[in-house]
Parts: sequence; C-alpha cells; structure tokens
Amino acid sequence: MTTVLTSTTEPTAGTASTFNALMEQISQDFEELSWLRNLTQRIEHCDVCTDTASVAGELLPQLCELVGAETLLLIESAQNASQPGECSLRVSHCSGEARYAAEVAHEVVTTFADRAQSRPLVLNGLNSEEQQLVTNGQVRSLILLPLARHDHRFGWLLAVNRRLRNRHADEAGVPLPGLDEFGTVEVGMLQSAAVLLTTHAHNAALFREKEELLVGTIKSLVRTLEARDAYTRGHSDRVAAIARIIAREVGYSNERAERLHLTGLLHDIGKIGVPDQVLNKPGRLDDDERDAIQQHPEIGYEILRSIPSLEDVLPGVLHHHECLDGTGYPHGLCGEEIPLDARILAVADAFDAMTSDRPYRSGMQVSRAVGILTEGAGQQWDPEIVAVFLSQREAACAACGLVTEPLETDV
Ligand SMILES: [Fe+2]
Repeated sequence: MTTVLTSTTEPTAGTASTFNALMEQISQDFEELSWLRNLTQRIEHCDVCTDTASVAGELLPQLCELVGAETLLLIESAQNASQPGECSLRVSHCSGEARYAAEVAHEVVTTFADRAQSRPLVLNGLNSEEQQLVTNGQVRSLILLPLARHDHRFGWLLAVNRRLRNRHADEAGVPLPGLDEFGTVEVGMLQSAAVLLTTHAHNAALFREKEELLVGTIKSLVRTLEARDAYTRGHSDRVAAIARIIAREVGYSNERAERLHLTGLLHDIGKIGVPDQVLNKPGRLDDDERDAIQQHPEIGYEILRSIPSLEDVLPGVLHHHECLDGTGYPHGLCGEEIPLDARILAVADAFDAMTSDRPYRSGMQVSRAVGILTEGAGQQWDPEIVAVFLSQREAACAACGLVTEPLETDV
C-alpha cells in the first residue's frame, strides 16, 4: 500500500523566506567549497619561481567576494636595506574596492600590528578613537592576519569593511543587525589563504637563498679561473650581463633569463683544463694549441654535467662556439640546430672579446666591433640575435663599462 503525503497548507511568507535563506546558504557553501578546492590545487601546483603577489592575484579576488569584504589586500613587508631592523610595507595585491587601499593598509598595519602579532585581529564596529586613527572613519570593520613563519614575517592579509548583502536584509530590504560584521567563517577562510601565501613566500625565499648561494659559488669558481689570466678578468661577468639583456629582449621569462646569466658566468669554465702556457700565450696559437683551447666547451660540459641543478646551462656551455654556417666547434652544428642560449652567448662573447683589452692588442672601438658583428650575421652569428643586440647596444655597453660612440647608421 502506498501512502501519499499531501500538504494542505499554502507556503507562508515566513517559510518562503526561510527556504530562500537556505538556498542562499547552500549556494554560499558551494562557493566556499569550490574556492577551497581551488586553494588545494594551487598548493599542488605552486611554483616557487612565481612571486607571491601573482599567487594572491589568483586566489584573493574570489575570496574577497566570498567573505564579503569591500577590499582585500596583500601587504608584503621587506627589510629596509638603508635602515637595518626596519621594515617597509608594500601593497602587492588589492581585490575589490581599491580607492583607498594603500592609505588604509599602512595606517591599519601601523595602528594594529601589535594586536595581530600571532593571531588574526577581528574588529567590528571600531570605536571612535580607532576610527580616527584609521583614515578618518573610512574603516568600519576589518580582519588583519599576519603572514609569518617562525620568526620571519612576510607581510599581512587585510580585509576591510564587510559589505551588506541582499540576503541579509529583511523582507522590506532593511539590513538585519549584526550581519555587516566579520565572523569566524570569514576569519577561517582568510586563515586558509594566509597559510598558502605564507608557505609560498617561505618556499620562494628558500629558493632565492639557494639560488644566491649557487650564483655566489659559481662566481667564486669563475674568479679562480680568471685569476689565471688577468686579461680576461671580468669577461664572464660581462658576457653574462649582455646575454641577459638580449634574452629579455627576445622574450625569455625572467627565470630563464637569469639561468642564461648563470650560463654566461660559466660558459668558459672549461678553460680551467687548458694549460697556462696556452691560455696566457700572447699572439697566434699553433694548431696543437688551438686544439687545446678549443676543447674548453667540452671540458666545461664534463665538469658541470654531474650537477643536476645545472642541467639547463649545459647546452649554452657546450655550444657557445658553434657558428651558424656549421664552421664552429665542438660539433659543427648549423642554424637552429644550435641551441638559442648558445646563439645568444656567441654574440655576447664575441662583442666582449672584441672590445676588451688583450696582452697583444687593445680592445676595439664599439663601432668596429658592431661592424664585424653585422658583417658576420648570417654566417657566424644568428642575424636575429645580432639585430636584437644592436637594438640594445647602449645597455650592453653600459653593462661592460664601455662608452658608446654614434654609429654611421645612427641619426
Ligand atoms: Fe669560450
């Protein structure tokens, strides 16, 4: 037997309102779950080379809507280099209303930082004294969270002014009391974002430290090499600097341009295996001596290939003496067979070699070196890279400490 349940009562205004409120709540819960899922995916794919502001740019706009804040800010703090012990604050991301973001950020952090050192500070209904402290009453409510790990503070997350939402109004549209305040739900969601941003900032800082250590070690190694030959002192630094300028201009990402800078520092490291009498011989080299010096790309490759974190510098080190027409060494590669890193380094290397002093000759004038590069474009060097170099000639000369003189083609 089937029992059919029927309702004989019409829905009242009260039950409709309750139903609508429930639907709104379900919708809100779904949005929160969706945002949390997005957050976990970000944790999985967080790249330490991405700056924290970019991570915030992907997470905070939606979070600003979810917590109903007028403004949500990421404020990064950095040690002040000129005044040790002091930090400077910088708004590196702003979601929502931006009209008073920077002003509010500085005043709120300055005023309330002591009360938010280790836990979120939630203020609803600032007293008149607090309101006067913060931008003449523009702030009604706020959440301030520290982004800190151990003793290191990366910055702050700040939500300003809870917005009134339609669903928090009664049937006549009058806002219900207390619903323009931040509560535990909003604090919890901001804490989740703060954990991710802090972890990312911490990992990025560790990565930068590791990179700085690696670059410092490599520079020491290069100094050791260049100490054997006073006339090439600074050559690797200059090649690295010019290569980075070209790389940025041809569209390398910042990360890839920095790796090419590292490759430039290391490009001649194989000369460590070339005998002193060959390396420092003034004048022309005989065939055996030329063979010995032409082994330096492969020696450099062998030295570096056992270091996994330097895997991406190997093509540039090995192939920076290849020529576009296949007459270079060590493998006689042609055209685009030559890795782009190596084609960039070849131009940077040639320009510095031509313009720097050697025991048997003075460095060429920039205009003459530019003429040789232009003539050799298409045979020895990649013409597109030469063109990019010429467009960046002044920056390249500045990196080498050279004075540029006007070329005939310059107007
Ligand atoms: Fe070289």
